[in-house]
Amino acid sequence: MNTRKGKIAILLSGRGSNFEAIYKNSIRKDSLFEIAVVVSDKSKAKGLKTAGDLGIPTHFIRPRDFSSKDEYEKNLIELFETFKIDLICLAGFMRIISPTLIKKFPGRIINIHPSLLPLFPGLHAQKQALEAGAEISGCTVHFVDEGVDSGPVIMQASVGIEKDDSEESLSTRILIEEHRIYSEVIKLFFLNKLKIDGRTVKILT
Ligand code: GRF
Repeated sequence: MNTRKGKIAILLSGRGSNFEAIYKNSIRKDSLFEIAVVVSDKSKAKGLKTAGDLGIPTHFIRPRDFSSKDEYEKNLIELFETFKIDLICLAGFMRIISPTLIKKFPGRIINIHPSLLPLFPGLHAQKQALEAGAEISGCTVHFVDEGVDSGPVIMQASVGIEKDDSEESLSTRILIEEHRIYSEVIKLFFLNKLKIDGRTVKILT
């Protein structure tokens, strides 16, 4: 029987609460995946420290140590190949991924974003939703393409906006849903149930 677990690389730049939620699911006995490495572009990212404390291999790769974005991503690719990574999960990674990396891992890079895409892409999505007077927002897990938060949507969860919501209170409620759906998508990925069909993703039953 093949008991190999799917191997994930997490890329993060900050707090790492999505990483922690994924980690908690990964250590369940019946988990289909494990976190093989956590990579950050910020040496002081809290998520990087948490991962280290948990005994997960961590790598701080400083973009400015490379002559170009291409060289930076080639370095990432080498690392992912060394760890035999099946799926790359962006979890608050504040850099745009270029075709160099995307072409090497087609359909194998996913991201989480705190809005119902295609609404409110980019930075401060929760603030954008409040400023637009939206009554509903939420979060989206999507495949990564060359744009900003523009790849095929895999799963979304909605969160109602209350009249007295602040950016912080809304972010907190959205985050609860982020933590839930990110691991759900990863599980579906390793069950081979995600099929990209042009701009859409089918979840096989
Ligand atoms: C999350 O809101 C995620 O949707 C966005 O960046 C934030 C990262 O939070 N891409 P954390 O570092 O996972 O706590």
